[in-house]
Amino acid sequence: MAEIMNNITLGKLPLTYRFLFTSFLLVVGLGLFMAGAQIMLTHGKADGKPGLSMDDIVYSYYGNRSGSKLETALTGKMKDKVSPETRLTLIKWVRNDAPVNEWSTVGPMFEKNCGKCHDEESGLVEVTKLDVAKSLAEIDHGASVGSLTRISHIHLFGISFIFLFVGLIFALAEFNQFWKIILITTPFAFLVIDVASWWLTKFWPECAWFTMLGGIGYSLAALVMFGVSFAQMWLPHWTKK
Ligand code: HEC
Repeated sequence: MAEIMNNITLGKLPLTYRFLFTSFLLVVGLGLFMAGAQIMLTHGKADGKPGLSMDDIVYSYYGNRSGSKLETALTGKMKDKVSPETRLTLIKWVRNDAPVNEWSTVGPMFEKNCGKCHDEESGLVEVTKLDVAKSLAEIDHGASVGSLTRISHIHLFGISFIFLFVGLIFALAEFNQFWKIILITTPFAFLVIDVASWWLTKFWPECAWFTMLGGIGYSLAALVMFGVSFAQMWLPHWTKK
């Protein structure tokens, strides 16, 4: 059995299989590219600046605990929309965990200063409504345990299947046995590191760099396996042996 398996290489595969494997790798490659693009578009903007940075990863999983969205707005972009005295009252209300019994005082302030833009038609957050203002006043704790559990298991199941098939194809390449085993197993190891890092970052923001490491790790391993597999299936050097 081992003899037979060792004699089958990518270059000697029947054309049917080479087309099947090539199609699969191309679509998976496109999928990985889209996944990368999606990460840039969602997590990439978490810190308000384009491009993926450590802060983005920290904000996504750990949250921005230095303040709430409402306080960030009142001390930033929305600063000039309200007089300094009113602003102070509003910030104090936010910092006191937005007590409901003070809404009779602060509600009209939001209405007067913010209502003309933040109304129903505008599509902007309706800060003039108590429940909206209250939720904007909460400290951002990042991803919830519920959502992390959900994305973790989808990620582990889904991606391990992708790397099972990519690995099966690459296993047929002519390649140094030691490095072949390393390349086939690293994506699985980095997958675990990646998922573990989301949980670690949720509690310890310093762990954000594990997320970077995991992502870069399996992208590199995938790139090498894709490149070698394509080359050995189609380049005359391997197909004409
Ligand atoms: C002149 C119109 C205008 C007024 C007045 C105004 N805002 Fe805004 N606000 C906007 C616009 C436009 C955005 C979204 C664009 C942006 O983020 O730059 C925004 C964004 C926000 C956000 C960010 C929402 C998020 O999802 O992060 C908050 C919070 C906010 N405003 C609160 C307030 C508060 C509180 C007041 C009153 C003190 C206020 N705004 C007054 C126009 C206004």
